[in-house]
Amino acid sequence: MTSLAERIEHASTRITKLVFPQDTNPIGTLYGGTALQWMDEVAFLTATRFARQQVVTVSMDRVDFKVPIPQGAIVELIGEVRRVGRTSMTIQVRILLEDAMVGTQELAIEGSLVMVAVGADMKPVPLSA
Ligand SMILES: CC(C)(COP(=O)(O)OP(=O)(O)OC[C@H]1O[C@@H](n2cnc3c(N)ncnc32)[C@H](O)[C@@H]1OP(=O)(O)O)[C@@H](O)C(=O)NCCC(=O)NCCS
Repeated sequence: MTSLAERIEHASTRITKLVFPQDTNPIGTLYGGTALQWMDEVAFLTATRFARQQVVTVSMDRVDFKVPIPQGAIVELIGEVRRVGRTSMTIQVRILLEDAMVGTQELAIEGSLVMVAVGADMKPVPLSA
């Protein structure tokens, strides 16, 4: 039997991306809307891995853009389950900016999303035990 802590750990999701020109704004840094899309994607994957049910995004909480991310940068997105409710989960998402030559990473963007498990009728359903 898998414990809650193990399920949370196994749900953690990392996605590495390269910032292409089409991902940037007119000043050549990662466009905020693109970052939000990537954050939603990693939150969706993390929640799905935890729940093994259909999930939808119900809320995106405060997102802090701390450091500009230049075109050509390597970024790593990390999604982690931070709260498990009855039908909902809070997923913290961080985007780390990586120095490609050195390998160091710094926190560039951070936020959290609430994802809800839903049935075929799109109504919330309890998270499976
Ligand atoms: C997600 C949805 C099914 C929830 O329906 P609802 O009637 O609000 O459901 P409930 O009030 O029973 O809330 C369900 C859970 O979501 C949580 N929740 C609802 N609205 C929330 C909000 N704005 N912020 C944070 N949590 C919220 C509730 O606290 C509850 O959590 P719990 O069961 O863990 O205690 C409905 O709002 C919906 O379909 N939204 C559109 C989803 C969507 O299209 N997303 C984009 C594409 S993925």
